[in-house]
Amino acid sequence: MTGFFRQGPALVCDGVALDRIADAEGTPLYVYSAATIAGRYRAIDEAFAGYPHAIHYALKANSTLAITRLLRGLGSNADANSGGEIDVALRAGFIPPQIVFTGVGKTMAELAQAIDLGVRTINVESAGEIARIDALSRERQTRTKIAIRINPDVDARTHPHISTGLKTNKFGIAIGDVTALCAHARTLGGVEVVGLHVHIGSQITDLDPLTRSARALVGLARELAADGTRIEHLDLGGGLGVSYDGSRVPTAREYADAVLPIVRESGLAIVLEPGRQIVAPAGALLTRVVDVKEAGGRRLEAGKAGERLFVVMDAGMTELIRPMLYNAFHRIEPVIQTDATPSSCDVVGPLCESSDTLGKDRTLPRPQVGELYAVLDAGAYGSVMASNYNRRLLPAEVMIEDGKATVIRRRQTIDELLALEV
Ligand code: LLP
Repeated sequence: MTGFFRQGPALVCDGVALDRIADAEGTPLYVYSAATIAGRYRAIDEAFAGYPHAIHYALKANSTLAITRLLRGLGSNADANSGGEIDVALRAGFIPPQIVFTGVGKTMAELAQAIDLGVRTINVESAGEIARIDALSRERQTRTKIAIRINPDVDARTHPHISTGLKTNKFGIAIGDVTALCAHARTLGGVEVVGLHVHIGSQITDLDPLTRSARALVGLARELAADGTRIEHLDLGGGLGVSYDGSRVPTAREYADAVLPIVRESGLAIVLEPGRQIVAPAGALLTRVVDVKEAGGRRLEAGKAGERLFVVMDAGMTELIRPMLYNAFHRIEPVIQTDATPSSCDVVGPLCESSDTLGKDRTLPRPQVGELYAVLDAGAYGSVMASNYNRRLLPAEVMIEDGKATVIRRRQTIDELLALEV
């Protein structure tokens, strides 16, 4: 698959030299490969071909308009997690029946927005939320389609911050409560239960918890049917994890081969909400070295006792918070390969926190001030989680499509940052 690779010593994105893009647009800078996004979307779609399915791309992974539009053009639907993401989906051209609305804390205003638009379903998280949707819908003399998000109490074996399917997590409705809740929902005039939803976490690279939660969903659908609630779809939640370190992870086809035999007997259509799997490997964060400094502490280089080498970049936790927040590993590579002596170093950001690190204990050709580096697999949960901490400006974003680099979001200016302040 296309994406980021080397042509001689130079790292390129779909054939376009990254150093040239950085020279033109400055750093920190996100660069995306449209071809990689398309290829990864199609891989999922093809894996599930032959069974009724709809892919609702999880906007939370990356909702820059150009990327959202690209996915719509590929035939994707949308999964929105806030009123803002619903607005982005609409501006990107999605129509309400193509949007599912998820989220653990939807406000009355957000629920009203989704009801008025007529989204495909609201994935509900609690009995209280069902009551609120019912009241809002009856006020409007309408009936809103909902899917019940279950909490299957399955350990996704991922980072605890992004694990959502355990009964100790705040998400979903305990599976044992769902049948009675659906029977109650049938008595309400403002809601119609059309689906079951599960999402046990993100960056899952083990098929076992995914098949276990699919089995739980299918079993519950059977129980509901026997009890008189007939649903239309099963929403299996987010997609697979990706390989950040080059190790093997399951493919879309392996995932489909694992869950389709479980779902098939139900005859119910499936909804998928992948985010990371589609966009993570399609994006890189470009950053330049602003300082290289040695500090006492450890022996890192042969012949240089007590040296700790800090490579200070112009990007940090404000552009990519994943390493700091989840101890996440992202490959960091020089954009132009050099034959400088390999050195052990900590690649850090410029912010006022020791946890502001992009990569610890890395071996890189000894970096020099001004050199350009790429932090790979940063297309998901990168730019969307960026912040203005330390009054830093949101980075620009560029998409490579058909050999052409286009700025899809320009760098924020200080005037834009201050425009909201009185
Ligand atoms: N559906 C629901 C209900 C979700 O909560 C999520 C992600 C997804 C779908 C998409 O999951 P994916 O296919 O991307 O695994 N910021 C974290 C990830 C948080 C994921 C939150 N929910 C990170 O950088 O690892």
